Amino acid sequence: MKPKLDLVIFGGTGDLSTRKLLPALFQLHRHQLAERLHRIIATGRATIPDEKFRDTVRDNLQTFLPAGEWSEEVWSTFRERLHYTTINASEPADYLALGQLLDNAQAPGRLYYLATLPSLYGEICRQLHAAAVVNEHSGVVLEKPLGHDLASCQEINEQVAQVFLEEHTFRIDHYLGKETVQNLLAVRFGNPLFSPMWRNNFVDNVQITVAEDIGVEGRADYYAKTGALRDMVQNHLLQLLSIVAMEPPVSLRAADIRDEKMKALRALVPINADKARECTVRGRYSAGAVNGTAVKGFLEEAEFESADATETFVAIKATINNWRWAGVPFYLRTGKRLSRRYSEIVIEYKRLPFSLFTNDPNELTNKLVIHLQPEESISLHTLNKKPGLTNKLSLQPVELHLTDASRGKADRYDAYERLLLDAINGDQTLFMRRDEVETAWRWIDTIIEAWEQNGTPIKDYNSGTMGPNAATALAAVDGRSWYE
Ligand code: BG6
Repeated sequence: MKPKLDLVIFGGTGDLSTRKLLPALFQLHRHQLAERLHRIIATGRATIPDEKFRDTVRDNLQTFLPAGEWSEEVWSTFRERLHYTTINASEPADYLALGQLLDNAQAPGRLYYLATLPSLYGEICRQLHAAAVVNEHSGVVLEKPLGHDLASCQEINEQVAQVFLEEHTFRIDHYLGKETVQNLLAVRFGNPLFSPMWRNNFVDNVQITVAEDIGVEGRADYYAKTGALRDMVQNHLLQLLSIVAMEPPVSLRAADIRDEKMKALRALVPINADKARECTVRGRYSAGAVNGTAVKGFLEEAEFESADATETFVAIKATINNWRWAGVPFYLRTGKRLSRRYSEIVIEYKRLPFSLFTNDPNELTNKLVIHLQPEESISLHTLNKKPGLTNKLSLQPVELHLTDASRGKADRYDAYERLLLDAINGDQTLFMRRDEVETAWRWIDTIIEAWEQNGTPIKDYNSGTMGPNAATALAAVDGRSWYE
């Protein structure tokens, strides 16, 4: 049995902690899942007495927990776990005070959750080490973004590695905590029906869409320096791609799964300046209407110098050079202020060699559609006979839902519940290994260099649409279309 641990959250009063981490911890506490967890110690620059911190958390939980999930009874024991201590990232005395608080034989383990600016990660780790509060049972959780390019990512990883072993380092990509992403592993590797057809002999193309209807909200400053490629593709989309594309692992152990994901990432063909002209599209939302509400354009929202050079939409045709996927395009797209919020992965199967039927089967293909949000489900799009007394056989699409209809409320959870539970239990399967993150950055850096070299323009799209027309053309030139 692993020892109990205290969870220390840097950035403990910040947005992520308020909206995601503390509600997730409350839910784990409710379901008595986090048996190893002893105390939750939030840290921040402000000086806040424990009682006042608890009062604030109570109010925030009532706002951010899913509707109907607040419970006075659960709160009465959860609050006992909550503590607060002041830490200025570069103040050694604050870490010594943390050390006194942590000095607790009941819970020798420590998990440090860094939800601050990533530029502070190195300093925080260094100070934790200097204050001797890292022991052999200590781990660290790192929130994204891990750098803004390969070099800065390597620097952060290097600084963290001076203090924490890789097997104690948990790099979060919250998309990996979504239930359907894990279900994808079950569908792929649990069904002899799908496994043999998961390859270029049968699959025509793969599409990964992560569409958001929100704009940059309160994060215009960060976003203006980041853009959709770094903010979403480097992590969430490439993580999804690696799970779709990976070879079957030899076991479900973290190392085996991550080895296979890593191989898929390494097989991604770099998009150099020549390729980037045909294989990438950059977009930026202008004013429009989303869900019936008029909204401003990105440049009116983000009045920062760098905003002019920032894309809020990106579409990419990626190729993977290996035996399984050679010749199969992976179309990726993500953007803000699109027509609706949805994320899905579409595996589109090859067309029939010729048609026996009266209607054109070209538009009617078999597809496996994996919906990640807003609903989590998997559906298989097949064809059958249009019913009726006609003497001609013609086809119509039918959707088979592979979702477990018995799935109740108790089986629904937020990605952060899954990931916090796994980090507390030391399971790294759903976290990114150092080489995965760095390989993803290497691929992204090549695209950024290509854009700089080509002076790739950013095409405007109206808010409330599905991005610039060029994104439609990206698939259309190959005789394909995005599934919508
Ligand atoms: C974050 C990005 O990683 O993911 C945000 O920084 C984005 O820009 C968010 O809005 C999307 O997450 P989800 O789970 O709402 O799709």
